[in-house]
Amino acid sequence: MWAINLRIFGVVLGTLALYTLIANKIPQMQSEVPRALALGANVTPEQLVSAGDQLFHGAGGCTACHGLGTRAPNLLTDEKGAGPIGARCAKRENGKDCKAYLYESLTRPGAFVVTGYEPIMPDMSRTLSPQQLWALVAFLESQGGTVDVTASDIPAASAAPAANSGAAGSAGAARIANGSTDPMAIIRAAGCVGCHKVGAEGGAIGPAFDHVGSRLSSALIRESILTPDAKVARGFEKFKGIMPKTFGDQLSAAQLESLVQFLASHK
Ligand code: HEC
Ligand code: HEC
Repeated sequence: MWAINLRIFGVVLGTLALYTLIANKIPQMQSEVPRALALGANVTPEQLVSAGDQLFHGAGGCTACHGLGTRAPNLLTDEKGAGPIGARCAKRENGKDCKAYLYESLTRPGAFVVTGYEPIMPDMSRTLSPQQLWALVAFLESQGGTVDVTASDIPAASAAPAANSGAAGSAGAARIANGSTDPMAIIRAAGCVGCHKVGAEGGAIGPAFDHVGSRLSSALIRESILTPDAKVARGFEKFKGIMPKTFGDQLSAAQLESLVQFLASHK
């Protein structure tokens, strides 16, 4: 009896230690996103622009593609004589002003693909909250144009994050798939399918998940998700830097482990 109890105790302790270890390994990047943004109702355009600036250069993951010259259009500097993004956004699509065009670029990137580029931009609404999206729109408008985003554009959901258990303090971004640990739900909600193929579904920007478990150990899969560029998959060098580096912040420890196990089982 004693021996069994002791063994159960040992297993529980071991599991706890493992999860604590994993939780500590997940980088916390919440401080990059100003929490004042969650106040919503009386946010000023200046506050939005500055929040958008930080997101653009940090947790938003935009600079992985924008700012490297040929992979994606320049946004902060001139692009083919049309000026920076704030100066050209109203001229992209007939009948769409800057605000409408920029919001569409972030949330339905495939709706209008800038000539000369591949449609590789992920749908940012999968990983960013409405407040964060509007802050980015304001920041992009400020690059050579006029900022006309106001607090009234931001959905009244600004109070929601607090009610969204587990997401409190996570910069207003809802936990991916509402915290579900169903691996396919995570893969779809996190936008992995935007770049990776799973079965018949998904894109071809990153390696297909079909046999990922035979190429990589669980530890390497975990590393690939937390620090995507630590090792670049062979044959995908030209897409180095594209995979978002923010999943460590967005996935809970249990979600991450569920994903890792799911992928490792794809032999
Ligand atoms: C995986 C690469 C990638 C990432 C990450 C990415 N983009 Fe893009 N983006 C592109 C590409 C490629 C285009 C041009 C093709 C198109 O229109 O879809 C584009 C187009 C755009 C446009 C339209 C530009 C124009 O000249 O009309 C905007 C605005 C934009 N992105 C903003 C952003 C912001 C803001 C972020 C971060 C939240 C971001 N993008 C993240 C690749 C990316
Ligand atoms: C914007 C595109 C993009 C998104 C979104 C994306 N990835 Fe990736 N991923 C890549 C690219 C490109 C590579 C290969 C280059 C590299 O290793 O950095 C890669 C590599 C990987 C690898 C290593 C694969 C191998 O065979 O070496 C794993 C595992 C992985 N991604 C998992 C994920 C998971 C899980 C998600 C969603 C939570 C995700 N990725 C979202 C583009 C993306």
